[in-house]
Amino acid sequence: MKKELLIQYEEFDDFKSLLKSEIKLMDKAMSALNNAYAPYSEFNVGSAVLLSNKVIVAGNNQENSSFPCGICAERVALFSAQSTYPDAIIQTIAITANSKNFDLNYPAGPCGLCRQVLIEYEEKQGVDICVLLFNNKKIIKLAKAKDLLPLHFKENKLKRN
Ligand code: THU
Repeated sequence: MKKELLIQYEEFDDFKSLLKSEIKLMDKAMSALNNAYAPYSEFNVGSAVLLSNKVIVAGNNQENSSFPCGICAERVALFSAQSTYPDAIIQTIAITANSKNFDLNYPAGPCGLCRQVLIEYEEKQGVDICVLLFNNKKIIKLAKAKDLLPLHFKENKLKRN
């Protein structure tokens, strides 16, 4: 039996159709990007998550001369938010990236590891997480993180409590 998956998202050329809270969140992601520690890739990523308690937690990519030690901006923000406010609902995540070596024509999407982390939190809280990917040219808006990783890994029986 053949099956098909449909993913819907919105694309905007400017901020006009976005909520004030979304613009503020994107602003925080931009500021975080400027503090990235990315001397190896020179590719800066910033991320910010808006929680149900109105707190915004931001993160950026952190690299290391031992390359695999590095971690993406999205997971820095998500783990920080979850470790500080474990009971808050993650409502929205904004992600942006830039490089001083080339232009990004399209907003960068999160890597597979970050998608997996995002989706597990989304399922844990039972509330969709809105995802905003943006650069200075475009904004992409997805209503739920789950759409970013079809057939993602999930095994609840691995949980011990
Ligand atoms: N990076 C992120 O921060 N988020 C992603 O989703 C993809 C990649 C970082 C990791 C590394 O520091 C740099 O971008 C280049 O891969």
